[in-house]
Amino acid sequence: MSLLIKNGRVVTADSDFHADVWCEGETITAIGPNLPAPPDATVIDAAGKLVFPGFIDPHTHIYLPFMGTHSKDSYETGSRAALMGGTTTIFDMCCPSRAQSAWEGWETWRAQSEGRSACDYSFHMGVTRFDAAAEEQLSEIVRLGVQSFKVFLAYKGAFGIDDTELYHTLKLARRLGVTVCAHCENETLVAERQRELLAAGKTGPEWHHESRPPRVEAEGVHHLLSFAELTGASTYIVHLSCREALAEALAARARGVRVDIETLIQYLLLDKTDAERPDFEGAKYVMSPPLRDRANQDALWHALQSGLIQTVATDHAPFDFAAQKPMGRDDFTRIPNGIPALEDRVNLLWTRGVRAGRLDLHRFVDVASTRAAKIFGLFPRKGTVAPGSDADLVVFDPAWRGEIHAARQAMNVDYSAFEGWKLEGRPHVVTVRGEVMVRDGEFVGPPGRGKFLPREAAPL
Ligand code: URP
Ligand code: ZN
Ligand code: ZN
Repeated sequence: MSLLIKNGRVVTADSDFHADVWCEGETITAIGPNLPAPPDATVIDAAGKLVFPGFIDPHTHIYLPFMGTHSKDSYETGSRAALMGGTTTIFDMCCPSRAQSAWEGWETWRAQSEGRSACDYSFHMGVTRFDAAAEEQLSEIVRLGVQSFKVFLAYKGAFGIDDTELYHTLKLARRLGVTVCAHCENETLVAERQRELLAAGKTGPEWHHESRPPRVEAEGVHHLLSFAELTGASTYIVHLSCREALAEALAARARGVRVDIETLIQYLLLDKTDAERPDFEGAKYVMSPPLRDRANQDALWHALQSGLIQTVATDHAPFDFAAQKPMGRDDFTRIPNGIPALEDRVNLLWTRGVRAGRLDLHRFVDVASTRAAKIFGLFPRKGTVAPGSDADLVVFDPAWRGEIHAARQAMNVDYSAFEGWKLEGRPHVVTVRGEVMVRDGEFVGPPGRGKFLPREAAPL
């Protein structure tokens, strides 16, 4: 298998030049002008197009039993949607329930994904309870190549852990050299506010925000980072949504706490008024932390462009509007939380970020690909275009014009939060380890070719 991408403009997080990219087998082996191709090579003409490293989504929920139902995608449908949108590697959250052991969770997610994903993937290992058995099992899972944990300070009674468990999880992570990803919201504040709102008859999706206002998230960030400061653990805040939480994270970073920050394409582009749409349509826009007041978006874009925020993910958690969101028709606390976006993240970030002048080209590549590879131990195998790297490439067509419509999407969910939004560019060709997976908006790759990517921890 050999592949030549000719005449493209190669753009990485720190370089921008015209060249051909030559791939042998699964790897990029040469980059330069006028590279020759043997007659049996696949040749792609990238004239007028950009050649990016495959994009990485560091936060997805392809398989997720949650709030009495399951997220809609399978690894087959989710990975295909990822590739259609230029994402060649995903990090799925392995989230056992508190009733399951860590090992049962690991085996479940492995069984769900094995041989079914078209894109490459890794996991963040959810620590949803912590005791001696969990410590042993987590250590083994880290040895098997998962060098990141995930904790929830929210979701009381489901995934949430208490402070004793948090403390010991962070100590173990520090010892093993593992980064701890954290969902930061104060679960007691959420539970009490939800109870008060429901008692007052405030049951619609428009009340979701009121149950988890910015201070609830900021308190969660402050809480996590106090524990991180005292344990020395390395942390990564998932789905940061607002200025208050950002201020807490930056204050901790200034004290020397090791913290990286992720925001979501949803928080950059959607806002609280979406969840206030009438006739229960707001349920499409219920996720946690909630979509915020629009004024937060400028702060997030600015922090992204200036490097204060490291990554843009999707937290892809697809639940159908027709059959799943109505589980909370009379009680917003029962609406399955999540807004699907895996297929649209890169195109929207390009259109509303780069094309709109909010994000420069190199920051775009960094926040959507390179930085996640660096934080989570995949760089330079993933996240760049260089000899020796995996031949995960996105030949991007900036001249393409189109719109997002749920009826045409590959994600297995019955609505799009971005219905009718215009796009100014999309992937023309997407490759994973040298194999063409997407061409001209069609999935052409072999399903199930994606590999689990073991990553090495850096123990003390
Ligand atoms: O609303 C969300 N974010 N759903 C997915 C689960 C989580 O909290 O990440
Ligand atoms: Zn979360
Ligand atoms: Zn999530």
